[in-house]
Amino acid sequence: MSLPQHTDATLRYQQQVDNSKNYVLPFIRQEFPALEGLRVMEIGCGEGGVLTPFLEAGCRCVGVDLFPERIELAKGFLGNYVENGQLQLIAKNIYDVDFFGEFQHAFDLIILKDAIEHIPDQDKLIAYLKNLLTVRGQVYFGFPPWYMPHGGHQQICQSRVLSFMPYIHLLPRPLYRGLLKAFGEHDGTIKELMELVDTGISIERFEKIAGQTGYHITQRKYYLINPIYKYKFKLKPREQFSWLKGIPFVRNFFTTCMYYLIRPNN
Ligand SMILES: C[S@@+](CC[C@H](N)C(=O)[O-])C[C@H]1O[C@@H](n2cnc3c(N)ncnc32)[C@H](O)[C@@H]1O
Repeated sequence: MSLPQHTDATLRYQQQVDNSKNYVLPFIRQEFPALEGLRVMEIGCGEGGVLTPFLEAGCRCVGVDLFPERIELAKGFLGNYVENGQLQLIAKNIYDVDFFGEFQHAFDLIILKDAIEHIPDQDKLIAYLKNLLTVRGQVYFGFPPWYMPHGGHQQICQSRVLSFMPYIHLLPRPLYRGLLKAFGEHDGTIKELMELVDTGISIERFEKIAGQTGYHITQRKYYLINPIYKYKFKLKPREQFSWLKGIPFVRNFFTTCMYYLIRPNN
C-alpha cells in the first residue's frame, strides 16, 4: 500500500516540517536553548522539511542527500533560504562529501533524522562526524529501532497485506525476500528492503557504537508511538512506558522511535 506522502512531495515536506517544529526542535532545544546563528547540517535531508524550523529560528544550515531529485524538491520548498545564503543544499552520498575541504569543525549540530538506518558502516560514519563538530557540537539521531513492528519499512510495499504485517522483516533473509517476491513487489522495493536488513539498527547497537566511538548520550527519548505517526496516521504520540524502557532487547520490539543527542567525550 502506498501512503499519500509516498507520492505527494508537498505533503511529505509539510509532515517533516510539523514533526520537526513540534518534536525534533524542542528535543534539541534542551541542549541548545538559543538557536540563532547555530551552524546545522542534516545528513539525509530529503525534501528539507526537518531543517525548515531551524532556518526560521535563524540557524545557518547545510542539507545533504543522496538523491538529486529530493535535493531539487528541497530547493523548490526552501529557495528563499538558498538565495539569501542561509542554506546550502548538496546532492551527494555522505561518504563522497569533501568535508575536510570545507566543513572541518564547522557544525554545532548534525541531524540524522530517519537516516542512520539507511546508511552502511554506521560506526565509521559516527566516529568521523566528530571531525565536523565545533567544540560545543552534538549529533541528533531519530530512528525506528530495527526490531519494532515496522522496523523493516515494509509500509512502502505495494501489497496492502505486507504493508500492514508487523515483524515480517525479522524472518530469515531468503524467506523475507521470497515473501516480498511472492506478493509481487517491484525489484527496486525488494532491493531497498533487503539493504535495510543490513543497515537497520537496534537501541543496543546504536548505544554501543556511540560509546565505542567516543561519545556520551546527553539526551535520550523512547517513543511507544512515533511523533511522525500524528501527521501520517493521526495517532497521538506517546512516550514509552518507564518499566519497558529498562528491559534491554525486549524494549526494541515495542519502541517505534528513538531520539538521541550525543556529544564527543572531549
Ligand atoms: C527516510 S528519508 C528521511 C528524510 C528526512 N530526514 C525526514 O526525516 O523525513 C532518508 C534519507 O536519507 C538519504 N540517504 C540515505 N543514504 C544516504 C547517504 N549515504 N548519503 C546521503 N543521504 C542518504 C535518502 O536519500 C533519504 O532521502
